[in-house]
Amino acid sequence: MVSTHPVGVQNSGKKYLPQSPIDHPGISPNQSLLPLTAQVNSSDHLEIGGCDVKQLVEQFGSPLYILDEETLRTACRQYRDSLKLYYPGESQVLYASKAWSCLAVCAIASSEGLGIDVVSGGELHTALTAGVDPDKIYLHGNNKSTEELTFAIDSNCTIVVDNWYELETLVKLGSAAKPVRIMLRLTPGIECHTHEYIRTGHLDSKFGFHPEQLAEVFAFVSQQDTLNCIGVHAHIGSQIFERQPHRDLAAVMVQWLSLAKNHGLDISELNVGGGLGIRYTESDDPPSIEEWVKPICEVIKTACEQENIPLPKLLCEPGRSLIATSCVTAYTIGSSKEIPGIRTYITIDGGMSDNPRPITYQSVYRAVLANKMSASATETVTVAGKHCESGDILIKNAQLPKTQPGDILVVNATGAYNYSMSSNYNRLARPAAVLVRNGEANLILRRENYQDLIRQDCIPERLKK
Ligand code: LLP
Repeated sequence: MVSTHPVGVQNSGKKYLPQSPIDHPGISPNQSLLPLTAQVNSSDHLEIGGCDVKQLVEQFGSPLYILDEETLRTACRQYRDSLKLYYPGESQVLYASKAWSCLAVCAIASSEGLGIDVVSGGELHTALTAGVDPDKIYLHGNNKSTEELTFAIDSNCTIVVDNWYELETLVKLGSAAKPVRIMLRLTPGIECHTHEYIRTGHLDSKFGFHPEQLAEVFAFVSQQDTLNCIGVHAHIGSQIFERQPHRDLAAVMVQWLSLAKNHGLDISELNVGGGLGIRYTESDDPPSIEEWVKPICEVIKTACEQENIPLPKLLCEPGRSLIATSCVTAYTIGSSKEIPGIRTYITIDGGMSDNPRPITYQSVYRAVLANKMSASATETVTVAGKHCESGDILIKNAQLPKTQPGDILVVNATGAYNYSMSSNYNRLARPAAVLVRNGEANLILRRENYQDLIRQDCIPERLKK
């Protein structure tokens, strides 16, 4: 998506970016740098979902999260349809809503038949309010409060139990008349190559039971008439490009099912978590959604045949690969600073508060100038945020055309863990988000205003002026 790339010209007279679905039918959204509907219109502006990005900023303000419905729905369908194609048993995709939890996103995922993975009472409330079927909601978390557990039980969701303390709490919260529906989360001891903060499957992880505890956990659970254990779960990490770790995981998990059977437990669900990576830059080369799903299905099928156990219902819970590519963030360029012989900074009107991933994980993004799409990338600049923090750098050494104040900088693949990890640092108001589709734009998150920023503040009487 760097603008030195050639831009193909289609019959309609519109110019399409290199990876548009028109050039590459059937592309997996996680392998695209921009949303699938991205194109360049006759004003030389970036268009997403049939909407001119510059006009969107004029209408909804800046910065702006722009979510392309087509890309999100395509990713949902590719997961759902790949499972149907390669897995002969029942299957269910869950959207890991920690990637971006809001009503509209939950409603879209749910309308595509997906369930939702939630990790807090807040995410659970969001999914329920969006109308998601509680049978398809799974509550995660390594320290769920009693209030959160009760909320999930009362709502008829499934609870993915992380540890002994939680298991013992649930034994007391359930009743024989209404046993609590649970799954057990295990840490499989599978290493994968990703940032250490987002690896979860290695043994030294705060999540889940150690596999050596499994027999004991199964024995305990099988004695409890207040619990109904329906499955096992594991998640090994995020932004993973290799396929072998999930193959290994699938094989190990079938062994767990065999062990459960030996304890007289009738476990019918197996959840392999999420973790498929996406293309943030040209050099990222993740497998497609289909390429990720297929081997997992094959390993489970073969292993179940070998163990002579029935096929479990297969679940997976992707977050990033479902939503990251669907969204871009549009910013307005303001000041700049040239330090001769060192670098040139250009500054945007957001930063680490709307995208904390570069400062947290040293994540790398790409950007284009949405109002000058065919200009050549002649400059190397560092895109800085507006926060009072030197580390608030969005992109180091970005290749861009010459910029001016007022230009619209669009950063790619900001749908996952951007809004959901956003903050009000320096009391910046969170941006708005719009959903775009077929030339129509709908607000899905209202822009915060100054009043929102002090809404929760309380001032003791004696401090009032
Ligand atoms: N299931 C569980 C239990 C998880 O913990 C996660 C992510 C997922 C599913 C979804 O994983 P995904 O498909 O998105 O890789 N904030 C970090 C990512 C943290 C991931 C946490 N768990 C980032 O911005 O890279």
